[in-house]
Amino acid sequence: MSEMEAVRTLAPARILGIESSCDETAAAVIENGRMQLSSVVASQVDLHKKYGGVFPEVASRQHVQAIYAVVEQALQQAHISLGDVDAIAVTRGPGLAGSLVVGMNAAKGMALAAGLPIIGVNHLEGHIYSAWVYRAETLTPPIEPHFPLLALLVSGGHTELNLMTDHITYKRLGATLDDAAGEAFDKVARLLGLSYPGGPAIQYAAEKGNPTAFNFPRAKLDGTWNFSFSGLKTAVMRVVRKYEEDKLPLPVSDLAASFQAAVVDVLLAKTLKAAHTFKAQEILLAGGVSANTALREAFTNQKDYKVHIPDLAVCTDNAVMIASAGYYRFVLGHQDPMDMDVLPTWPLA
Ligand code: KG4
Ligand code: ZN
Repeated sequence: MSEMEAVRTLAPARILGIESSCDETAAAVIENGRMQLSSVVASQVDLHKKYGGVFPEVASRQHVQAIYAVVEQALQQAHISLGDVDAIAVTRGPGLAGSLVVGMNAAKGMALAAGLPIIGVNHLEGHIYSAWVYRAETLTPPIEPHFPLLALLVSGGHTELNLMTDHITYKRLGATLDDAAGEAFDKVARLLGLSYPGGPAIQYAAEKGNPTAFNFPRAKLDGTWNFSFSGLKTAVMRVVRKYEEDKLPLPVSDLAASFQAAVVDVLLAKTLKAAHTFKAQEILLAGGVSANTALREAFTNQKDYKVHIPDLAVCTDNAVMIASAGYYRFVLGHQDPMDMDVLPTWPLA
């Protein structure tokens, strides 16, 4: 029996998810892997803004303050108590060690108190499963993804192509050799004097710009499934320097639009090529950068593959996705021991 068939034959389960890998403290409850009963995200973004990025020590202490209130709220929103939960799923890695530990220890404490099994989830796996999630009030749930599935994961820390042949089964085809796509957005935003986090700031600036104003490089790295965004970032930097030297006002919108177009082109071209090469049936786009409108449109407008993209609300870090991935692990018989450690550099595959 395949993992897919196994999932179909299993009983319903309610999972409490906990996420604290970076700068969001999040908890959520999901039923049957897909139906979101609640989702609470306490963002620290305003705290980190003044550093222009996430300050690890500030992040972990903020998680300590927020975690129990966030979990309590997630249970309340779902109108259940801990006793109504079948298992607790928690992000085990990758992420900031000090931040991961806070979620892990909270999850262990609750699992111990309520006699529940605990499941460590890879944060990247969580992002992928965000495409399975729908809100409880949705009348017609979106069709679930089918395997073999080509998953493009684009976040602040990772950019990689994975082939999924079944539930929780991944083959990593390639990844970024330098900056992650989200990191490139954040760094270019800083170059353009835009605020942190850079992704949304670039997207808004790009709306008023011309995507063909600058012909930025598109590193396709033919013959591999890897990506590279540092050359693109350097190309933007050179233009910015030139404008500064010439004391000319920076065409921020045109630069943002041209940079964004280069990123979107590369991501779409490589994903389509990989889907074709590995005979994938469908495509999945996930991770914080999948919130980008231009990227969503480019993937949606291609005609070759059905594409699954998470709802905007679950593109960036959240706990619904961790609960969803945790559900599929749980019903397939995975559980972790109480002495499991966090894995700050845990690869998905
Ligand atoms: O998945 P995520 O919330 O955290 C990580 O796991 O890294 O991704 C955060 C990244 C940031 O780099 C942020 O700039 C980017 O996602 N991002 C976007 C957009 N919204 C968030 N990038 C481009 N366009 C957006 N609308
Ligand atoms: Zn993430």
